[in-house]
Amino acid sequence: MSRIAVIGSNMVDLVSYVDRMPLEGETLEAPRFVIGCGGKGANQAIAAARTGADVLFITRVGDDIFSEQTIRNLQDSGIDTKYVKKSPGFSSGVAPIFVHPDSHNSILIIKGANRCLNAASIEEAADDIQKCALIVLQLEVELEAVYAAIDFGARHHIPVLLNPAPAIADLDENSIGKLDFLVPNETELSLISGMPVTSTETTRLAARALLAKGVKNVIATLGVQGALYVGQEGEWVVPGITVQAVDTTGAGDAFVGCFARFWSETRDIRAAMEKAVLYSACSVTACGTQTSYPDPLKFQEFQESLSKHPHP
Ligand code: RIB
Ligand code: NA
Repeated sequence: MSRIAVIGSNMVDLVSYVDRMPLEGETLEAPRFVIGCGGKGANQAIAAARTGADVLFITRVGDDIFSEQTIRNLQDSGIDTKYVKKSPGFSSGVAPIFVHPDSHNSILIIKGANRCLNAASIEEAADDIQKCALIVLQLEVELEAVYAAIDFGARHHIPVLLNPAPAIADLDENSIGKLDFLVPNETELSLISGMPVTSTETTRLAARALLAKGVKNVIATLGVQGALYVGQEGEWVVPGITVQAVDTTGAGDAFVGCFARFWSETRDIRAAMEKAVLYSACSVTACGTQTSYPDPLKFQEFQESLSKHPHP
């Protein structure tokens, strides 16, 4: 089995299900609260592991009550936590999340110890990263660490996938140009390309512009519309599927983790995208982030239920 190195963030998700957001100066009661493990890096690591990948996760946890639980959660999913290290004097990353009645969310992130991941953290793990078939990155840690990981992948001929979330403008073009996979959502694609992304056609144009800068493959996630591919193998759309959504938090991470697992195993981009669209659709039917990522049995049942009751 091929190994995936996920390098990035972990957060403790503090999820409040709200009827609406409080106004300034207002105290408002919300019906429900759940605490869970999250953070884009950890979510992607868990999604990859839960779909069957062997995962090495490189991250930093805080010096507080959350760190042990975070490490145990990763280990329970079989993730190698050799480089999940405590940063003395820092809080763990936390994310107060507000889920609205329409299943969409608003997220605040406090990075805490995630800020301590740097270029040296990559070098320190060099021997282990070199044994991996794919490096998976996001933007919830310092850019120094992200660029160092991209550079490491390029030097050692290890494919690198960047999920540029949360959206940041002015990414280093030289680093972006070295990517094998860039997996943005529409907002992120628009920000990185500097072009409007409002339709399939404009998504294609923006993705092509990034290809011209050196990125080998762009996979734009389109929410309920599925995902669009523009890259070395051509262009196509994997249509989305309509499900009863209750909580879309972490759906993008489910896509990335699942794609990473299937692509690193088969090198079949389209088939990996199809699995990833299904996996993330399944995740929006349940509450929370990692708690909503199905295990292989649940994922199988979900796929069977779709073939029995096909969605448009
Ligand atoms: O992508 C979803 C994630 O974003 C949440 O788990 C939260 O921690 C934030 O990082
Ligand atoms: Na979910």
